[in-house]
Amino acid sequence: MAATIHLRLQPPPTHRRRISWPRRLPVQCAEAHQAMFSRIAPVYDNLNDVLSLGQHRIWKRMSVSWSGAKEGSNVLDLCCGSGDLAFLLSEKVGPNGKVIGLDFSKEQLSVASSRQHSRPKACYYNIEWVEGNALELPFPDSYFDAVTMGYGLRNVINFHKAMEEMYRVLKPSSKVSILDFNKSTDTFSASIQEWMIDNVVVPAANSYGLAEEYKYLKSSIQEFLTGKELEKLALEVGFENSKHFEIGGGLMGNLVATR
Ligand SMILES: C[S@@+](CC[C@H](N)C(=O)[O-])C[C@H]1O[C@@H](n2cnc3c(N)ncnc32)[C@H](O)[C@@H]1O
Repeated sequence: MAATIHLRLQPPPTHRRRISWPRRLPVQCAEAHQAMFSRIAPVYDNLNDVLSLGQHRIWKRMSVSWSGAKEGSNVLDLCCGSGDLAFLLSEKVGPNGKVIGLDFSKEQLSVASSRQHSRPKACYYNIEWVEGNALELPFPDSYFDAVTMGYGLRNVINFHKAMEEMYRVLKPSSKVSILDFNKSTDTFSASIQEWMIDNVVVPAANSYGLAEEYKYLKSSIQEFLTGKELEKLALEVGFENSKHFEIGGGLMGNLVATR
């Protein structure tokens, strides 16, 4: 399928749930986040390589393999940004499968779309880019064979609602795989992570004129959930089982939950 960016912010009424979970942050923060991710879009990929010394590619591969996506699967990558996980999923599900990459930043999606066109792999045409909100997914219930989300959950304004939506659109027995920074309960690991953000991440981002944008990283990790809390959240919204894995020396974490 050719690359398309759809505006499908509102799902059909029958697919919407009317449970109102408490918001973690004020709504205006969602708009501020959207603007921030759009500003970062042009340099986001370069910065990821610099800041993780290329390691993020390994973590993303691990996350995709934990999702259980396979040849012919119909899969969703939420908060896809410039599309790293979507491209990996595309290779996994092949030309008979289908990948939807969803994000609320047009700028991120347009980087993703141009990467898709500049790459030679035929299977990348199984990817469709959708502009939408992870908290109100424009897809029917029990629609996907796997869902991934890389560095997205920490950034949405309502973790519970996002998880509930992932549960809703997954087919029974299918998995969600959620990669993000690990909010460690170990004070030593947490202080190393904070040191890295202050002394490596923010100065590197500063060279791209994005220091303020990356300062937000530290507070977003502080406000995020620990591995155990993520496991609990998944069970609360209905997943059958959930397991959080610490990776990257405990700096990152990946939640795998089965519907
Ligand atoms: C840190 S980036 C991660 C991008 C990509 N998944 C990766 O791992 O490289 C977070 C992305 O989440 C998107 N995002 C945040 N909140 C969202 C929401 N409520 N709905 C859709 N996208 C959202 C942002 O636009 C941004 O592209």
